[in-house]
Amino acid sequence: MTNVTEYNRIAWNKQVKDNNKWTLPVSPELIENAKNGDWEVVLTPTIPVPKEWFGEIRGKRILCLASGGGQQGPIFSAAGADVTVFDLSEEQLNRDREVAEREGLDIKTVQGDMINLSAFENEYFDLIFHPVSNCFIPDVLPVWKECSRVLKKGGRLLSGFANPLLYLFEDREDVKDIKLEVVYSIPFSDLKDPTPERKKWFEEKKYPLEFGHTLDDQIGGQIKAGFVISGFFEDKLDIEGYPLDKIIPVFIATKADKI
Ligand SMILES: C[S@@+](CC[C@H](N)C(=O)[O-])C[C@H]1O[C@@H](n2cnc3c(N)ncnc32)[C@H](O)[C@@H]1O
Repeated sequence: MTNVTEYNRIAWNKQVKDNNKWTLPVSPELIENAKNGDWEVVLTPTIPVPKEWFGEIRGKRILCLASGGGQQGPIFSAAGADVTVFDLSEEQLNRDREVAEREGLDIKTVQGDMINLSAFENEYFDLIFHPVSNCFIPDVLPVWKECSRVLKKGGRLLSGFANPLLYLFEDREDVKDIKLEVVYSIPFSDLKDPTPERKKWFEEKKYPLEFGHTLDDQIGGQIKAGFVISGFFEDKLDIEGYPLDKIIPVFIATKADKI
């Protein structure tokens, strides 16, 4: 059986080499602006997270969870937060180290699997920033539990994740005209469900394996782990010609408070 963690570590390292949009570090200009208090970040493809979801971030301990790539971590650090970036891919973490060195920022980087945050003690962080990435693990429930453990009481978890309907269709990048024909069911797993065409394409591309989770696991899972959902918005994929973008938003962002 495929070891998903190891497979996806290598696959994400390859995404860095291939310059996937989510592996490209922020510019010096964005860092300069962030130092002056002018910044925004995304949890989902396009919509900036409302500033009030963060409160004052200067001096806050922030965990950027599965959020390497030299993107949000350096912005938070430049804006005055105490930042730890945690990611499975050493190449993604290298992007954060590169920006930190380039900009003279103090950013901690930790490599690991998001289901296991044992590198951190209980109630250590004020805020966890967790952009769309739990589509790369088979089970999201351990992540919500670990987030709850490492957050202070009153701390906050900001997450982005896919609406499961994204995984009903055959929507690989090489399929130009995605037919809105239901091919899969939810939960979806690239380990057991893919059609031979999808499997072949993923294997040839060495693309990360994906999983489509139920909303019960995504939203219910956060609530069961001790969070109260206090903010919500939806977003689109924003790829030209993607048919669902004209029909329904396929990404979700939540603000959850640890009670
Ligand atoms: C779409 S990128 C998200 C990072 C990006 N900065 C953003 O703005 O969305 C997904 C990230 O999840 C990481 N990842 C995938 N599986 C993981 C796992 N099991 N544990 C921790 N990180 C993981 C990847 O290495 C990659 O950096």
